[in-house]
Amino acid sequence: MEAATTTAPRPATRAPERRLPPGPPLPTPIQTAIWSRQARRLLYACQDRYGDMFTVRIAYEGIWVMLADPEAIKQVFTGDPRIFHAGEGNEILATVLGRNSLLVLDEKPHMSQRRLLLPPFHGERMQGYERTMTEIAAKEIESWPLGVPHELRPRMQALTLEIILSTVFGVREGERHDQLREALREFLDLTTNPAALLPLLLIGPERVRGFGPFRRRIDRVDGLIYREIADRRRAGDLEARDDVLSLLIAARHEDGSPMSDEEMRDELLTLLVAGHETTATSLSWAVERLVRHPEKLERLRAEVERGREEYLTATIQETLRLRPVISIVLRKLTEPVEIGGYELPAGVSVAPCVYLAHRNPEVYPEPDRFLPERFLENPPGTYTWIPFGGGVRRCLGAQFAQFEMAVVLRELVRRHEIRPADPKPERIFRRAITETPRHNAKVILG
Ligand code: HEM
Repeated sequence: MEAATTTAPRPATRAPERRLPPGPPLPTPIQTAIWSRQARRLLYACQDRYGDMFTVRIAYEGIWVMLADPEAIKQVFTGDPRIFHAGEGNEILATVLGRNSLLVLDEKPHMSQRRLLLPPFHGERMQGYERTMTEIAAKEIESWPLGVPHELRPRMQALTLEIILSTVFGVREGERHDQLREALREFLDLTTNPAALLPLLLIGPERVRGFGPFRRRIDRVDGLIYREIADRRRAGDLEARDDVLSLLIAARHEDGSPMSDEEMRDELLTLLVAGHETTATSLSWAVERLVRHPEKLERLRAEVERGREEYLTATIQETLRLRPVISIVLRKLTEPVEIGGYELPAGVSVAPCVYLAHRNPEVYPEPDRFLPERFLENPPGTYTWIPFGGGVRRCLGAQFAQFEMAVVLRELVRRHEIRPADPKPERIFRRAITETPRHNAKVILG
């Protein structure tokens, strides 16, 4: 299905309409069911019928006004954070990530926590992580099986977990590393496995913390993280270390006070949950798309061999455009706001739609084609390329993720021939929150 035309601009003098933008006249449970199983079909069909701004109703979530027009998206991303709340909608995550998690905060508490977390993710820091990332990627990739079909996504998950353990937690090899890895893996299961999420929905976030299987996993991971924090606080080599935990120990609030253990625990787990699955899935999509286009894979290999980065960067940007792992981002309005000629009431959520923005044919001719070349000439636009969201909530790990993807893809294409295990392209399949390749990027390495 092709993306539809943009909404016709409204005359500037016209008063904003007080009603919500149009949307499917279906009962909320039906819209919710379609959204959870066939989100993209719903988005395309609505855009075809209603244009670049339409309303959907989702059970437990409320009213979402979807936005596909770059101007409307810009208005949301540059809007006042007191009016456009992102943390409120993530409330449920506080059960596992804690009250201090960047993901669940808004306004001042969000900005002060974000200020503490930004320096470790600054672009220049990435160079410091390059050696570690390359070593881990090379070691993992060398252990992958050759000549037989196998799914890349679980391998990419293992790899990105190792990279997070090392660069974020500052833990490498040995017994403590193995214990922490196991505990984090089990913890991640709570946030990505629909079966584990079920009790959360059934008995509610408040009571779930006391629920046996939840409690045990959280207690185990907490114990290990608090031990790591305590030891790191005492470490003599803190200044020489560049892992995120060590940098957070040295960070100071505006009033000069250090972060508490609890704050650090919440943010470390937030980084893990936000950065692990997303990066592993994006990497899997990059390979899935490349093996469908052997000539592009060959070009990538040749350029990497020559030490050139441009095509690698463009390949990553195009993968994140065509296969964004998160299809919308949400902001809940705390006050009425006029967008696109509508006066939207407080309480509704506006949703810059990553999926539709990335398929705008005026920005991306032949939007359904995988064409890294399109980014060689034109760099991605701030409001038309939004795989990492935008504004003061833009993904904290955007540079980290792209840097990591570059390292892993470079090591992979240098070492192996890669063929698809099945000639048919893999369909997009939603797992918990992320949009993944249906067969987990099944390939044969040579
Ligand atoms: C390809 C990989 C990734 C994708 C596609 C991705 C995507 C996103 C998106 C869409 C958001 C919401 C932005 C918004 O609401 O405007 C977000 C937020 C966030 N991401 Fe990522 N992410 C990725 C990797 C990472 C990594 C590697 C980390 C850290 C290690 C990370 C940490 C975060 C954090 C902390 C937030 C919350 C920011 C805030 O609320 O201020 N992400 N990410």
